[in-house]
Amino acid sequence: MTLLTIVAFDGTRYDLNVDNGTTIMENASRNSVPGIEAECGGACACATCHIYIDDDWVERVGGPEAMEEDMLDFAYDVRPSSRLSCQVKMKDSLNGLVVHVPERQA
Ligand code: FES
Repeated sequence: MTLLTIVAFDGTRYDLNVDNGTTIMENASRNSVPGIEAECGGACACATCHIYIDDDWVERVGGPEAMEEDMLDFAYDVRPSSRLSCQVKMKDSLNGLVVHVPERQA
């Protein structure tokens, strides 16, 4: 199990024990974290699963692939730490990862 913390826009922290290989979006949906809509179900085709990677983790998580980067153009208030949560899979090296939900999705 790997620890993932999702901080909702209102500051509520969701500390989750998640399986490696699952995406941040899947874990947010399973745990009813507000603010992650994920309309396309994880196909990298909607940009409504936008999150910010915590500053301390940006380097370890890495940046988006080209397809995700194109889709991020449709997200609201995109920042250098923006990712689509359906495209980030949990793994041992991300144990303790913290991400933040934006004010709203596009
Ligand atoms: Fe649609 Fe992530 S769920 S892009």
